[in-house]
Formats: sequence, C-alpha cells, structure tokens
Amino acid sequence: MSARKIALDQPESFSFSKESEKEIKFWLNKYPEAKKASAVIPMLWIAQKQEGWVSEPAMREIADRLNMPKIRVLEVSTFYTMFNLTPTGESLIQLCGTTPCWLRGADDLKKVCIDKIGANGQVSDDGKLAWMEVECLGACANGPMVQISNTAGDHYYEDLTAETMGKIIDDLAAGKTPKPGSQTGRSCSEPQGGSTALTDGALYDGSLAKAVKLPNTKPKKEKA
Ligand code: FES
Repeated sequence: MSARKIALDQPESFSFSKESEKEIKFWLNKYPEAKKASAVIPMLWIAQKQEGWVSEPAMREIADRLNMPKIRVLEVSTFYTMFNLTPTGESLIQLCGTTPCWLRGADDLKKVCIDKIGANGQVSDDGKLAWMEVECLGACANGPMVQISNTAGDHYYEDLTAETMGKIIDDLAAGKTPKPGSQTGRSCSEPQGGSTALTDGALYDGSLAKAVKLPNTKPKKEKA
C-alpha cells in the first residue's frame, strides 16, 4: 500500500455540527476521562461523515478535544484507509478491485470510472463525483461491486457491468439516486437463475427416508 498523505489544500478551520456533537457525546460517555483518547476513531468517523473527508484542521480539533498529541491523530488517520484524506465530491464510489471482483470484471468498471470521472482519487470537474479503488468489501459473491456514499447513505451496488456502472454514474451526475443492490435483480447472494434451496418439507421430517440395508451385515441369531 502506498503512503497516505493529507491533502495539500486544506480549509482554514473545522468545527463539528450540532448533530455531530450529539454523536460525540454518545461516544465520549463510553470512556473514562483518562481514557477518552480511545474515542479517536469514532471522532474521526463523525468528522468524515459530516464533511465527506478528514481535513487537517479536523484532526487538530479532535486532538484538542481528546487531549492527545496531534501527531497521534494524524497517525491514526493515515493508517486506516477508511478515512478519506482528500475531498471526495458529493458521491464517493469505492470500487472493489480484489481478486473475486477482479475476476468478474472490476477492471471494466474501473475503465468506466476513469472515462467518466477521472483518475483514481480525483474529484470530477463539477465536484459531484469521485471514485477510488478499495480492497474487498465483503460482498464477493455479488461481484463486481461498488459502495457509493452520499447524503442517501452508504449503499452497495452489485452484479455490475460496464454498462450498468456507466448508467449509475450518469444518474448520480444528474442528481438522481440509483437503486442500490443487485443490478441483475437477484435476491441477496442466491445463485444466478434463482434459488436452489430445497422446499419439500418431507425432506426435513424424514418421512421420505427408506430403510437402509448395510452390506456385509449378518442377520442376528435368534436366542435359543
Ligand atoms: S472481492 Fe470484491 S467484495 Fe470481496
């Protein structure tokens, strides 16, 4: 993994919103005063949910609030890839490029993202979209897939093709909210073509079972 650096262009300042402050209170209540630095990851996450990324002024604010050295907050932010260190646009597309998704066509999706948005990590010219390649997102059976994060939430889009990926990007750029989930309509991660689960209840209650005659067994002798 390459070194993760903070953005060159940083905002002047950062402050948590009222909503964020409520969440911060919830998390700080979990830790004794002397251990409140343990809330650093939730606090970074709250800052990211508020702004879409974690800026350097946000890291400083968190360090002050948790009474910990600023360098420690920088270390945590740059270690965990879940923290975005540069602005992400209104919708961030995280594209899984790990082996199962790659075997199913992740490279085709990447090409569409590059064509329509720009390079990996770059925000589109209109500021609406950004994409980045990530490791396995845990939906391997439904690959290739992406997670899209925006004001509608964090949603998975699965069973993608270059065509459906392109359509989703066009919809996002037009301000629409594409329908999440499998883009082929399959339910959860059932096999393509539909469920193959057994449905005959008699298979479970044993009534279809026949007596089994084991080979090479001698009949029991009658007692005299
Ligand atoms: S490999 Fe893509 S979700 Fe696991």
